[in-house]
Parts: sequence; C-alpha cells; structure tokens
Amino acid sequence: MNVMIYGLREDETAYARAYGEKFGFTLHSSHEILKESTAHLAKGCDAAMISVSCSVNAKVAKMLRDGGVRYLLTRSAGIDHMDVDSILSLGIQIANVPAYSPNAVSEHTVMMTLELLRHGLEQQRRIRAHDFSIEGMCGREIHNLTTGIVGTGRIGGAAVENFHGFGGKLLAYDLYPSEKVSKMATYLPLEEVYRQSDILVFLCPLTPQTYHMVDQKTLSKMKDGVLLVNTSRGGLFEWNDVLQGLESGKVGGLAFDVIEGERPFVRKDMSGQRIDHPQFLRLLELPNVVYTTHVAFYTDEAVENMVGIAFENLYHFYTEGKCSNSVLHP
Ligand code: NAI
Repeated sequence: MNVMIYGLREDETAYARAYGEKFGFTLHSSHEILKESTAHLAKGCDAAMISVSCSVNAKVAKMLRDGGVRYLLTRSAGIDHMDVDSILSLGIQIANVPAYSPNAVSEHTVMMTLELLRHGLEQQRRIRAHDFSIEGMCGREIHNLTTGIVGTGRIGGAAVENFHGFGGKLLAYDLYPSEKVSKMATYLPLEEVYRQSDILVFLCPLTPQTYHMVDQKTLSKMKDGVLLVNTSRGGLFEWNDVLQGLESGKVGGLAFDVIEGERPFVRKDMSGQRIDHPQFLRLLELPNVVYTTHVAFYTDEAVENMVGIAFENLYHFYTEGKCSNSVLHP
C-alpha cells in the first residue's frame, strides 16, 4: 500500500513514520497541499492523506482517481474542503477523524474567554512597552456571569465541563440536548440563551441552518456588551454585522479562532504581504478583540490522534473494505 501524504508538517512527521511502520505502508510525502498543481504527486499511490488546508474539487478528485488513488483520508474532522459527492461517485472511499481532542478546543475556548475578560492582549502590549499601569484593566469573573454554549457535542460538552468549573451560570442550546450536559447547564431555546447570556460561545457546526446565525437581527436579541466567542467555524457569523456591533458597543468583545474567507492567510506567515480581507484587518485593530489563527485544535495529543486515526482509517478500508469513520454522501 503506497500512501501519499499532503501538507505534512514537521510536527506530524514522526507520528506519520511510526504509524506507517506499524501498518506496513510505504509513505511518500510533501509539505505541499493537495490542489490541481500537486495532484500528480499521488500518481501510483493507493491512498492520499490530506489536511484541512487541501482542496479536493471534482477535477482534483478525477486526477487522483486516474493516478490510482482509491482511498482519501483527511486528518481533520471538517470535510468542507472536499467535494464529497464527486469524490465518492468516482469510487474513492473517504474517511475523516471526527474527534481528535475535544479538550484541545474547549481549553483554548476558555483561554480566549479569559483573555477577553481580563484584557490579556492589552496587558501584554503594555508590559512589553514597560507600561505597568493598571488603569482600564479591571476584569470580570466568569463565576459572576452567565455563559451560553451553543452546540454541546463533543467539544461543546467538554466546554460545558470546563466552564462549569468556574461556578457561573451556564445555559446551553443544541438540537439534541445531552443528559450529561443538562446536569451542569440549563438548556433553553436559542433566543432565550441569546437574551440571557453575558458570554456566548459558539461550538456548533457550520450547516445551512447555522450559516450566519449571528447577524444584525440575532445580535439585537443579545445583551448590550455581550462577549462573543467563536472557535468553531467562521461561517457562523455575518462578519460585517459583528464588526458593526463591536464598533457601536453592542458587542463588548470578540474572541475568534476562525473567520469566513480565512483560507488565503490562515496559518501562514503573511508579514509584508497584502491581506485582502478588510473586515479581518479592521478586527485586528480593535482592542477588545482576541484572535488566534485556527489553532484551537493544535496540541500534541490532537496532532498524534489526527495522524494516527487517519492511518487506522486507511488500515480498516484496506483490510475490511469499510471504516467506521467513512464519509458518506450528504
Ligand atoms: P459534534 O458533532 O460532536 O457536536 C456538534 C453539536 O452541534 C452536536 O451536538 C449537534 O447536535 C449540534 N448542532 C448541530 N446543529 C446545530 C444547530 N443548528 N444549533 C445548535 N446546535 C447544533 O462536533 P464537535 O466535535 O463538538 O465539533 C464542533 C465544531 O467545532 C465542528 O463542527 C467544527 O466546526 C469546530 N472545530 C473547530 C476546531 C478549531 O480548531 N477551531 C477544531 C475542531 C472542530
């Protein structure tokens, strides 16, 4: 079994080698992501293993299939970088890694929330300029606030556990409430969660239903000065409206790890280069905004699981013809 690994980062290399050896696969790899101009690298391979930065449209899928690829393994939970229908209809089987470390994202979410509440960014900016004054740095405590978690699946559920530790009031909304979560948080209709929360944390997936769920209309239902935390997907927010909310003071602060249109710059060194995303650039200028570059998942445990589970998926396809993490027609 020959496997072409695309977008292999240095921190993944040792894990890829170890799992390749464990399953007896022959590995080929490139730091390049999979796209039209690099699809030929998988020629002669049975499988292509990709990251979330790769893009597999119908044309790329056909190039892979023509080169002999029968299995496509993404080392991510998200599948929106693949044209699933086209890939499957070419007879290529797909698998993802649905969960690699829910705690990684939930802990990052808590960190970003605390940074907002304690003016972490401004504190560090001042300290580096040897300004040790504390004017304007008075924070707020989670245990005095109401936190609403929208989406209480694996990551949202872990976030509920983490926030529960602070002792504040916890509200939750999910299409499918969980019994475990309901012991720590009160499930309410979404509008009520919006109306009562001081902090709103979004951890539901991007679907047609959740696309731009935070816009001018829903913002008007939230508390004045609400803090928004989005560590899920950029498409959940209508960013012009969120920006306007921040500028008017309706939104008191924003922590985000994801933004719509992030693909050209996210996780890249863009110093000295043009970033064609005016809302993003404006957000970075605001003092009450905390940004990380889609790294909420990024811990040692998560990296090992993303690589290891992708290899296990391939092993199951290869030895049993099926895999419990198969991605099927939507
Ligand atoms: P999950 O599938 O375990 O949970 C998602 C939850 O959202 C489910 O309980 C589901 O019922 C709920 N949900 C679906 N539609 C909803 C709606 N319209 N309103 C409210 N809730 C709804 O997924 P998991 O593992 O918890 O991941 C959640 C999201 O986190 C992913 O979809 C992904 O967008 C994001 N993510 C972000 C990462 C990062 O590095 N920033 C890394 C990994 C995931």
